[in-house]
Amino acid sequence: MSKELDRQVAVVTGGAQGIGLAIRTALEEAGARVAVFDVDTGPAPDDALLKVDVTDEAQVRSGVAEVIDRYGRLDVLVNNAAITARLAHLFGQPALDVSVEDWRQVLDVNLTGAFVCAQAAARRMESGGRIVNVASVQGLVATGGAIHYSVSKAGLIMLTRSLAGELAQRGIRVNAVAPGPIALARTAPNTAPVDTLSGEWGQPEDVAAAVTFLVSRAAVFVNGHVLSVDGGVSVRYRNQVGRES
Ligand SMILES: NC(=O)c1ccc[n+]([C@@H]2O[C@H](COP(=O)([O-])OP(=O)(O)OC[C@H]3O[C@@H](n4cnc5c(N)ncnc54)[C@H](O)[C@@H]3O)[C@@H](O)[C@H]2O)c1
Repeated sequence: MSKELDRQVAVVTGGAQGIGLAIRTALEEAGARVAVFDVDTGPAPDDALLKVDVTDEAQVRSGVAEVIDRYGRLDVLVNNAAITARLAHLFGQPALDVSVEDWRQVLDVNLTGAFVCAQAAARRMESGGRIVNVASVQGLVATGGAIHYSVSKAGLIMLTRSLAGELAQRGIRVNAVAPGPIALARTAPNTAPVDTLSGEWGQPEDVAAAVTFLVSRAAVFVNGHVLSVDGGVSVRYRNQVGRES
């Protein structure tokens, strides 16, 4: 039986673990051949995992070239890589205490890295290509998270809209997902209190399902869109700035 993404080739950045791994799995289940760009290639050998730092233009270009050499084409790019775990201790840090060094690092990976990958991939995509950026609810509303992370994700949302406008003439669609709190083994137990409308955490598979929809034929008329996958957190915070007192 044929599958939605049969004969298609995808790159998922930051796909070695967490949400990126769930996206990789979902795209593979939909029939795609998937290559992962990550700085962390893990302990077990994995042919699909290429050691690529998304902030390094030369590495990204040669990673894209290797994917095309190997599989003959590139149809989908998912920009998922971000600095999360390494700076987790800084979440909630007051803006006035954020170091410029951390600010530059977060912007470099989360925003510039996505731009570098989108540029390199779109140059090699045929008409019909798709790019999905993994943003965050924190790029849409001020939840009182880390300012560098929030600003990087807000930038990613405008990168999505701007690229959608420009790449439409090449037949490439560009969309984003904006996840809310997603339970990962390392971040949170499913039982910790969370500010979604249902009081429940999202799962990596919930984000992967939204990405799979955006790259599917069903979404052929969806372009420049930011799809919230946040259990309603953005509704709760839409008119607020900072934390509730
Ligand atoms: N976990 C959440 O609750 C949540 C919520 C909203 C948005 N997001 C977004 O979802 C995406 C995935 O988040 P996650 O929680 O699975 O993170 P994670 O830390 O588990 O995975 C991120 C991956 O990116 C890789 N990476 C980091 N820097 C890189 C670089 N320079 N080049 C290549 N790869 C690099 C890491 O090695 C890691 O494998 C991120 O964009 C994150 O901002 C996560």
